[in-house]
Amino acid sequence: MRAELWIPGPTEVREDILAAMAEPMIGHRSAEMRELIHALDPHLEALFGASAPSHRVAVHSCTATGLMEMALRATGRRVLCLVNGAFSKRFATIAEALGKEVVRIESAAGARPDLAAARQRLSNEAFDAVTVCLSETSTGVAVSPAEISLALGERGSAMLLVDAVTYLGAAPINASTNGLDFVLAGTQKALALPPGLGLYAVSAAMLSGAAAARDRGFFLDLIRITEAHADGRPPMTPTISLHRALLRQLEDISTGEVELGLTDEDPADLGGLDGWQRRYRRHARMRDMTGGFLAARGLAPLGGGPASPSVTCAAVGGRDVPALLRGMLDRGFQLASGYGDLRDSTIRIGHMGDHGLGALAGLLAALGAELDAD
Ligand SMILES: Cc1ncc(COP(=O)(O)O)c(C=O)c1O
Repeated sequence: MRAELWIPGPTEVREDILAAMAEPMIGHRSAEMRELIHALDPHLEALFGASAPSHRVAVHSCTATGLMEMALRATGRRVLCLVNGAFSKRFATIAEALGKEVVRIESAAGARPDLAAARQRLSNEAFDAVTVCLSETSTGVAVSPAEISLALGERGSAMLLVDAVTYLGAAPINASTNGLDFVLAGTQKALALPPGLGLYAVSAAMLSGAAAARDRGFFLDLIRITEAHADGRPPMTPTISLHRALLRQLEDISTGEVELGLTDEDPADLGGLDGWQRRYRRHARMRDMTGGFLAARGLAPLGGGPASPSVTCAAVGGRDVPALLRGMLDRGFQLASGYGDLRDSTIRIGHMGDHGLGALAGLLAALGAELDAD
């Protein structure tokens, strides 16, 4: 039996999306490819809450890590990094690898990013960029774009670079109204697609400032890739199948149809909501269902507050984590252990993408039975 993926990404991909990926290739310089790329934009604008004139959206044939590097290459030398887990730390590591002067504001794993300390630092010193992660996949701790915007609104000329890898598609971003300069994500999380395509929104201020950045490189040159996307002519052979899958999924989500099959709510109650609002609502409910299940067993999610809209990490009260995960595999569900130092004491559940509420109820029932059997 193949165990269903409930790890914090990649997640399950629907059959008809997989089928869209199996269609024959087209020339990447063809009119068809240009149409495909242009057709993505209105959906990406809705997804990021970002549109002209303040922002542009684009895709690039690389994973999210490539976009982290792209953003840092396009900004200046001094970078303030809010680090509260393995993925927010990656931003700092990449900045150091690029030879930047990096100041880290560290919080313990499982804590929220220290926005107050960052605000303080930004009011005293000049930085070229600030990095922050909306949903720290290693701990399930989230911070909303609005909170970040409020705390870091006054940051001089520092560009605000935001990792939304396990947030985009699960909760609203509103990049334009929140004044986020660069928001990045991949495809394999709440959008329920295979990995391999990076998605981003970039502010006009960041794009114009990037002209002065000397080490933008070629493959990760923010200006080159953003312009090429606008033309529908990527400078390298793009991941054509993934572009197709992305368009298919964005179209399916935006009609609201996908959600009807994934929720237990009466369609009449969802009538006033567009496809994205329905998706965000289901993700919030999945987070709350998971949190409620854990709380009822005295196993609170890390972070103390509501968990990420797509990942919950919970201490399992001294249970043998590998044995618990093996038991869940036997029951048909693949969960993840904690990350790094949390590996032996926590599990992570990826309640994201196209997993429905009924399916989550099944997973939690199996987890309950496994915990009881232990
Ligand atoms: C929060 C976060 N940032 C960045 C990444 C890196 O993404 P990728 O492995 O697609 O490059 C991940 C991957 O899980 C992530 O969860």
